[in-house]
Amino acid sequence: MAKVLIATEKPFAPAAVNSIKEVFNKAGYETVLLEKYTDKADLLNAVADVDAMIIRSDKATKEVINTAKNLKIIVRAGAGYDNIDLEAATANNVVAMNTPGQNSNAVAELALGMMVLIARGGYNGKPGTELKGKKLGIHAYGHVGKLVGNIAKGFGMEVYAFDPFIESSVIEADGVKVVNSVEELYKTCNYVSLHIPANDKTKNSINFNLLNNMPEGGTLINTARKEVIDENGLLKIMETRNDFKYVSDIAPDCKDIFAEKYESRFFFTPKKMGAQTAEANINAGIAAATQIVNFLENGDVAFKVN
Ligand code: 3PG
Repeated sequence: MAKVLIATEKPFAPAAVNSIKEVFNKAGYETVLLEKYTDKADLLNAVADVDAMIIRSDKATKEVINTAKNLKIIVRAGAGYDNIDLEAATANNVVAMNTPGQNSNAVAELALGMMVLIARGGYNGKPGTELKGKKLGIHAYGHVGKLVGNIAKGFGMEVYAFDPFIESSVIEADGVKVVNSVEELYKTCNYVSLHIPANDKTKNSINFNLLNNMPEGGTLINTARKEVIDENGLLKIMETRNDFKYVSDIAPDCKDIFAEKYESRFFFTPKKMGAQTAEANINAGIAAATQIVNFLENGDVAFKVN
């Protein structure tokens, strides 16, 4: 009987856990649940004898993977898999997968929600501004970027995108204008919403020079990863341009400086909240569980990322 660990420091909604367990019960698998753990040792103990594991932003490090002697598959219930040591997984013959698109709507709704929040000054009683008629730049037009653009059109925003990996015609078919360079996106748009993954090429890539292209009142929305931001550049733009605003789903390391100096020009969620809805948890959780069963039973490696 296969044994599967659900390791979620930030737990899924209970309904999602039930749905995942149902998939595994049907397959005749045993499910072990490790939630809200604070000590890495708890994760190391829990992975020791499992065949498969579902994680969220939990860190599947080399140590975790080496400790899990029976592990055959890790599925990140979500989009970004920068928390999995892919080299260690491959070296140990462990398949790593994600569940692209399953939690995207929740993230897209949060991006727009945070835009309204900052445009209205955090609901502070003073006049704010509207999104209608403003230009929104989507930096990377994947599952989340596409949905953000779609919702933004409902607000009456003019939507632009930059994504060198997607044919312009595919983006334009959604009524979104394509720009030819990342600089042009930032120059053109009042709001830029980040949807790039965190990898060696993108880490620290959102820097002062890029941000300084934005017009007056420029606002950066980050529901991607804090690692893609060059924090020195971010602090420099906040310091040199008192019109600039930054909202992010998870605070940067320099959050104390923001709290001290830039009141009302930023908002940070206290914990990564983008995918934290019951619907996203259920969609991503069931997808992860199904991918594990399909792999263990039929060797199906769709969604493999290593
Ligand atoms: C993702 O990459 O899917 C999101 O960042 C969600 O992360 P979470 O599962 O930790 O909420």
